[in-house]
Amino acid sequence: MMNNLQEWPEPIIRVQSLSESGLSMIPDRYVKPLSDRPIINRSESGNNEGDDGVNIPLIDLTGLTDDETGLPPTTMDRISSACREWGFFQVVNHGVSPSLMDRARETWRSFFHLPMEIKQSYANSPKTYEGYGSRLGIEKGAILDWSDYYFLHYLPLSLKDYNKWPASPDSCREVIDEYGKELVKLGGRIMKVLSVNLGLKEDRLQNAFGGDNLGACLRINFYPKCPQPDLTLGLSSHSDPGGLTILLPDHQVPGLQVRRDGRWITVKPAPHAFIVNIGDQVQVLSNANYKSVEHRVIVNSGMERVSLAFFYNPKSDIPIKPVEELVSEEKPALYPPMTFDEYRLFIRLNGPKGKSQVESLKSPRCTCD
Ligand code: OGA
Ligand code: NI
Repeated sequence: MMNNLQEWPEPIIRVQSLSESGLSMIPDRYVKPLSDRPIINRSESGNNEGDDGVNIPLIDLTGLTDDETGLPPTTMDRISSACREWGFFQVVNHGVSPSLMDRARETWRSFFHLPMEIKQSYANSPKTYEGYGSRLGIEKGAILDWSDYYFLHYLPLSLKDYNKWPASPDSCREVIDEYGKELVKLGGRIMKVLSVNLGLKEDRLQNAFGGDNLGACLRINFYPKCPQPDLTLGLSSHSDPGGLTILLPDHQVPGLQVRRDGRWITVKPAPHAFIVNIGDQVQVLSNANYKSVEHRVIVNSGMERVSLAFFYNPKSDIPIKPVEELVSEEKPALYPPMTFDEYRLFIRLNGPKGKSQVESLKSPRCTCD
């Protein structure tokens, strides 16, 4: 079973190459079953409101510093509701410089526009996923998503390897480094807010993550133009396996959809906002007070889309389980302890599967949701 993880089950096709070949119909491999296909509302593109004006909550983090939460009570309450009701919110005035955000996104856009031979020299394998990739999961014959990506580690330092980061464009490694440093700090600040909002000491969630020994990685998603966007998805429905995700979306091209009451809400990002969402590990730690919510990405025929998903994760070899303060006789622990390494292996074998993975973790004795 383990050597299944050494190689992909079939030759890798770069979606960007397919897209650039100018085909008018997408190969069958990318055609989703009817029930998974998106409804693409063309008349809506260009207007700045979400579907029916609905959007994920927008939160101003002015006052949030590394040393103290410093946010007004109303802001804390809005974050609390967003974590419980949406699993998603977007933040502005988060302390990361807008020019760094733009540089990071545009540097990666340039990477994806380098000649294919250069990108291929970073081709990844399912063993670690680091490098240039075009699929998640190793099921032979699986229906694939309409995207390529690049995956790399910042933390722990033992996994950080500049040789696995692109050497070009020129400034790439420098920009990635600076971006990672800032996002680790932002992640730490948000973790404190979540802790306090759960009624815990501000360092409680971080300590449960292994203190300073956290994991941090980045996936850059590249969604090429697609001639038949109604038949496929850029990224299938999934919840994020890690702790928190901090997403830098493409400021010009919508695509991310969040599941809410059985509907798909298209996120409309505010200028220089990050989109924050709860991952499966925070759902587990919070004993399901906070939910990691399903999301997916739709593509379009007119414009490519680039997004940077930064994953703020627990130390990978310590058991993650509901924190004791949130467990009681009325609210028993919903999940058995599991390390993030074990959890991630499960996901890497199975590919994106909605929320089935965190749900399947639930302790058998518990029937509540
Ligand atoms: C992800 C993800 C959303 C996007 O990378 O996990 O959900 O907008 N990305 O690219
Ligand atoms: Ni995601």
